[in-house]
Amino acid sequence: MKVKNICCIGAGYVGGPTMSVIAQKCHEIKVTVVDINEERIAQWNDKNTDLLPIYEPGLAEVVEEARGRNLFFSTDVDGAIDEADMIFISVNTPTKTYGIGKGMAADLKYIELCARQIARVAKSDKIVVEKSTLPVRTAAALKSILHYTGNGVNFHILSNPEFLAEGTAIQDLLEGDRVLIGGERDTQESRDAMQALVDVYAHWMKPDQILTTNVWSSELSKLTANAFLAQRVSSINAMSELCEVTDADVSEVARAVGTDSRIGPKFLKASVGFGGSCFQKDILNLVYIAKSYGLKEVADYWEQVIIMNDHQKRRFARNIVQTLFNTVSGKKIAFLGWAFKKDTNDTRESAAIYVADDLLEEKAEIAVFDPKVKPHQMQTDLNFLNTRSQDENAEMLTATDNYYDACKDAHAIAVLTEWDEFKDYDWKKIYDNMRKPAFVFDGRNILNGEDLEKIGFIYRGIGK
Ligand code: NAD
Ligand code: UGA
Repeated sequence: MKVKNICCIGAGYVGGPTMSVIAQKCHEIKVTVVDINEERIAQWNDKNTDLLPIYEPGLAEVVEEARGRNLFFSTDVDGAIDEADMIFISVNTPTKTYGIGKGMAADLKYIELCARQIARVAKSDKIVVEKSTLPVRTAAALKSILHYTGNGVNFHILSNPEFLAEGTAIQDLLEGDRVLIGGERDTQESRDAMQALVDVYAHWMKPDQILTTNVWSSELSKLTANAFLAQRVSSINAMSELCEVTDADVSEVARAVGTDSRIGPKFLKASVGFGGSCFQKDILNLVYIAKSYGLKEVADYWEQVIIMNDHQKRRFARNIVQTLFNTVSGKKIAFLGWAFKKDTNDTRESAAIYVADDLLEEKAEIAVFDPKVKPHQMQTDLNFLNTRSQDENAEMLTATDNYYDACKDAHAIAVLTEWDEFKDYDWKKIYDNMRKPAFVFDGRNILNGEDLEKIGFIYRGIGK
């Protein structure tokens, strides 16, 4: 079974980059990425690749190479489904905001809509690939929908979770540690379907990097991987608070611990707290699944990762208030960074949003500079919390298009994202134009505290 036509439903942070790389590497496969969001598709088709809907280093070059050759972006979902022999579902699976499992379970309505649309449109056999992150056993539900509502055609369902991280998506896709493919192996047809997907990745991944498992292991491995990664961040963040009261330095502790090859050095950077669209959502989902099987201890264990993360964000804001003599009312605080990590314009669940919200409750005035995030996005993020009126948010939090204006006349600077350029700023010039005493709260430990203190700043890192 050789795949000739791929359709991907969902042109977001995963669908867009993943399919661009598949198209770049597999010239003989036509890849069509479809989405109901017309604006997003128009941006993907924009001749000026600076206007792609997603900022990722290296993405524009890949899109430029493949777009129009064998990579297409379209709103014609039915047409692309009809034409495809392999369909990736890469739509969003946010935390439910209503009904049973509200605030915890994954909302699968977008997945189900895709399945029903595929069932309605398909006139020939299709391989359906779960690319979105899904609760374990979702494939069973997909199978039922496709089987009972389809036109009598055969569907093979595979799980192929995505492990890319934002900011390094293209590198992760090209040189990732592994690709995971879960599928049934009971019939020749199902083994062929799995092999067809293996063959796609074999264009650039080594055979031993393409792992195959049963569907349930694959679905659960994705949630497990994110839970483990987030747990490491919460673990080092927990130690950061202990470091602050014991005069230990969390960077030194992380280095000492991380050189143990059994532990390893990655994902041990203490921070203002992890953000992003997935860690929290996927752990909440895991907790919900464990609870729904009656596994209370398992659920409580993983929930603690989220509790620790919320605490870390809160305590960063509280530290600012306490250090600024217990009041930030009417004081200007400059935020460097709004994105949830560097090299992305994504702000979903960014720690900056929650820190800002807490400081606005204390009546601070916030000026934000982020190299990639647009001002309206910051307001959207804040308004989503519903803490105060949109007018109040717009009045109290402003965005600037250069760091220098953000910091001018500020009482304190808070570093919320680890953008590299922050390290190279003219910190003396910044200091000269701030109110005194001038504070820096480095939520990412990226600045040189000693150098800043020589200039005159009072510097506070995390876990120092
Ligand atoms: P996203 O919100 O950026 O993109 C999803 C897209 O799907 C949206 O553009 C939306 O309009 C579209 N969509 C929704 N329903 C549709 C439908 N019925 N028909 C056509 N289009 C539809 O989401 P994302 O960040 O790309 O995440 C997608 C999935 O991948 C999630 O399950 C997420 O957990 C998982 N994931 C994300 C990342 C990441 O770094 N963002 C990494 C690994 C896995
Ligand atoms: C994460 C995983 O790394 C990906 O493997 C996964 O595919 C993805 O989630 C997903 O399923 O969406 P991502 O959220 O894009 O990727 O970015 P990460 O690099 O994991 O960072 C997540 C958050 O943790 C960021 O806010 C980051 O600043 C923070 N972090 C990370 C730390 O605070 N300290 C660290 O040491 C590492």
